[in-house]
Amino acid sequence: MLGYFLIIKLAACLAAHYPLSKKGIGLEMRKAGIADLESIHRVELDAFSADRQASMDALEERLELFPDGFFVLIYNGRLVGFSTALLIDDFRTLEKLDSPDRKLHKPDGEIYYLRSVAIMKEYQKRGFGKLLINRQLENARSLGKGHFRFTASKDVEAFYLELGFKKLGVYGEFHNSKQVVWEFRLAD
Ligand SMILES: CC(C)(COP(=O)(O)OP(=O)(O)OC[C@H]1O[C@@H](n2cnc3c(N)ncnc32)[C@H](O)[C@@H]1OP(=O)(O)O)[C@@H](O)C(=O)NCCC(=O)NCCS
Repeated sequence: MLGYFLIIKLAACLAAHYPLSKKGIGLEMRKAGIADLESIHRVELDAFSADRQASMDALEERLELFPDGFFVLIYNGRLVGFSTALLIDDFRTLEKLDSPDRKLHKPDGEIYYLRSVAIMKEYQKRGFGKLLINRQLENARSLGKGHFRFTASKDVEAFYLELGFKKLGVYGEFHNSKQVVWEFRLAD
């Protein structure tokens, strides 16, 4: 009886979080398109503080530079998260973290650089951020890249440790916050 109860509870919980049966309902992760930009920008404004928000033009530029590394997450028909990436050939080019993406991105770069990941506040802590990062890792592997790196502020450290990333060091300041460089080794 208890087992039966637990199965019903689990099914209800899964249905609430990942209802996949009806059109427009459920969880979907796919590549971003131009038509998504407004919703993507809405997520950016919601997830980041004012001093860290990318403009719509900057997001459009990332999409144009590397569309294969730009993913969106749709939950119950609403775009609630996204993640962007670039390819770079020398991590030291990130010394100037506010360098324009157009200068950083090298189409043949060996380093898959996770540029950003964001989930709308009300949808955070449901595993969505993790899904997007895992999608980016999968993408980097399928493109045959050896390194997956990014920088993030210290306040989200626990998130990356939880995902199995290794800290390479602290890398100066960006937006008044110490930046940690993270790496996930994709190949030996
Ligand atoms: C960072 C961010 C993308 C995480 O997304 P999320 O969907 O909330 O994360 P998940 O639910 O997938 O969390 C995965 C794990 O990390 C932990 N975690 C998530 N956010 C955390 C945070 N801010 N601090 C500490 N731990 C965190 C969760 O507890 C979870 O662990 P669990 O699986 O043991 O429960 C989201 O908080 C966000 O958009 N933040 C604002 C933008 C930002 O700072 N982006 C990162 C730098 S570009």
